[in-house]
Amino acid sequence: MRIFLAGAGGAIGRRLVPLLLEGGHHVVGTARAEEGVTRLRALGIEAVRVDALDADALRRAVRDAAPDALLHQLTDLSGADGAANGRLRREGTRNLIDAARAVGVSRIVSQSISWAYVGGTAPAGEDEPLDLDAPLPRGGMVGAIATLERISGELPEAVVLRNGLLYGPGTWYAPDGPVAAALRGEPAGPFLASLTANAAVSSFVHVDDAAAAVVAALDWPAGPVNIVDDEPAAARDWLPVLAATVGAPAPSPSDASSDAPAALWERGASNTLARSRGWGPRRASWRTGLMINPA
Ligand SMILES: NC(=O)c1ccc[n+]([C@@H]2O[C@H](COP(=O)([O-])OP(=O)(O)OC[C@H]3O[C@@H](n4cnc5c(N)ncnc54)[C@H](OP(=O)(O)O)[C@@H]3O)[C@@H](O)[C@H]2O)c1
Repeated sequence: MRIFLAGAGGAIGRRLVPLLLEGGHHVVGTARAEEGVTRLRALGIEAVRVDALDADALRRAVRDAAPDALLHQLTDLSGADGAANGRLRREGTRNLIDAARAVGVSRIVSQSISWAYVGGTAPAGEDEPLDLDAPLPRGGMVGAIATLERISGELPEAVVLRNGLLYGPGTWYAPDGPVAAALRGEPAGPFLASLTANAAVSSFVHVDDAAAAVVAALDWPAGPVNIVDDEPAAARDWLPVLAATVGAPAPSPSDASSDAPAALWERGASNTLARSRGWGPRRASWRTGLMINPA
């Protein structure tokens, strides 16, 4: 299959490229800078320099690639700037789908997140609604995700992968990443200011398992699918283990620790649907993946 990989140099994109090549696909990947283009060519794929916020340039790039399918792995998170990321999710997705429609591409696999669901008492399944009425700042993030998913769905064969918190090389949870830095007492970005060992439940997934899901999803029916490991966990359980692994002091429980309930949306997600389609995480739990062998 000819694949247009938007965001080939990102945390998932980099791990995805070798899997696509192993699968016999022809890949055209995007990067915004010449150094990124050079890095992608060194991985053995075609590369095109393009900014997804430039609609005309993106349309030309997709037309020239003549793809059978698009993979949307665009995020703008390296600067921990929620507004920039929201803009890319809205406008970048709009431009990508317009470019796809202009050349008659009907299949896309888009990257979404698994922590945008409404509140509940158990890990969320895909049939539950997104938390569109959430107050800011969460509401802004959920709104951008909902827009990304809705625009992606304009293509008849759109699969949306709702990933858990990504860990592994190049992610915020890598030993050299910002979460470990925050645990060691170094300055934390705005997204990390509330890193507390409380009852908030998250689902994790290793970047390699997320990348494998993208390849599998090329054959899946349209719709959203959670891509998470088997063990949603409370911060009071996983944070101390991560701290010990990266040589940081154990975080002290927050005021909202132990007995106090988390926000209702902090519930994790279920991977039952993905498993029913044949995908399963090689790192079934953050306990063995996140903490012991993050690479
Ligand atoms: N998935 C989530 O929602 C989520 C949530 C919390 C934290 N995180 C963390 O976020 C980090 C993501 O890092 P990352 O390395 O993937 O970096 P990133 O800065 O988020 O970039 C991801 C990809 O998007 C591309 N991109 C960004 N803006 C673009 C634009 N305007 N036009 C075209 N392409 C654009 C980048 O291209 P270039 O190669 O040109 O830079 C790159 O390929 C990870 O550490 C992860 O742990 C993710």
